[in-house]
Amino acid sequence: MKNIGILTSGGDAPGMNACIRAVVRSAIYNNMRVFGVEQGYNGLLNGKIKEMTLSSVADIIHRGGTILRTARCDEFATEEGLEKALNVLNVFDLDGLVILGGDGSFKGAKCLSDRGISTVCIPCTIDNDMGYTDYTIGFFTAVETVVDSISKIRDTSTSHGRANIVEVMGRNCGDIALYSGVAGGAESIIIPEVEVDIDNVCKRLIQGKNRGKLHSIIVLAEGVGNAYEVAKNIEEKTGTETRVTVLGHIQRGGTPSTFDRVMASKMGNKAVDLLLQGKTERAIGIRENEIVDFDLDEALSTERVFNNEMYEMAKVLSI
Ligand code: F6P
Repeated sequence: MKNIGILTSGGDAPGMNACIRAVVRSAIYNNMRVFGVEQGYNGLLNGKIKEMTLSSVADIIHRGGTILRTARCDEFATEEGLEKALNVLNVFDLDGLVILGGDGSFKGAKCLSDRGISTVCIPCTIDNDMGYTDYTIGFFTAVETVVDSISKIRDTSTSHGRANIVEVMGRNCGDIALYSGVAGGAESIIIPEVEVDIDNVCKRLIQGKNRGKLHSIIVLAEGVGNAYEVAKNIEEKTGTETRVTVLGHIQRGGTPSTFDRVMASKMGNKAVDLLLQGKTERAIGIRENEIVDFDLDEALSTERVFNNEMYEMAKVLSI
């Protein structure tokens, strides 16, 4: 293996840059040439590719976003799009490709490996919604951002004696809400994995008020539905003024946490190792603190197991 490509695809995640750096440096260390593909699969179809050097990844380990930029690309899902991508890979003489992204990006990698390209995928998404790995790059940084926001919202919640709903990202996965709710000491956590029980949320709010609590923080995952309707419902049932903060894309930016940088560095280095060993169709993950790799099909078909124990614990701690 002489020439490899690297791309970031789908929603960006803090730590992508640390991972790009690790791939580029590990590859050059092993006498390979590395080519950066811009804007994900979109750039692959259109030949937006440039060679990377040691210095093209200098001063990026601490930066959010992705220097390669990213995109969601519908054309790649068509036979014509795939053919275009294969042609470009051929023109640049790339024998292997490292793909950083979530499950949509991994599915794209599968199409390429089915056509003879060596692929290694690295899980990068703030959602932490991939079943085969305990964590994805970007998740803990996003949680830190949410926890920081909860602390600020708690101040004003106390001053006004209000309830405050904090809506967080995660698509259909409640992990950002669960982890930030626990770390931020939320009174209630509402996630898609557990049926919403508004009466219970209201009961906890009223019990807290009766004990003299001035604030009430409710963390709600976006996959549950409309936060404003939930707020209206709570307000009607409890008589407590309820405000909504939708944190949105702030969760996707910012300097990556130490954990994300270290995990990104290890995974990037592992990706190059796997390609050097002639492996293909692999998905890198972390299980019980060990960096591991799986067959791509297996990774894609592993169901996420919801951490019910943690959810139950959160209820106990916020009684
Ligand atoms: O998958 C990451 C994510 O941030 C989700 O949590 C969110 O639902 C979605 O992407 C938002 O996508 P976009 O940036 O395209 O609006």
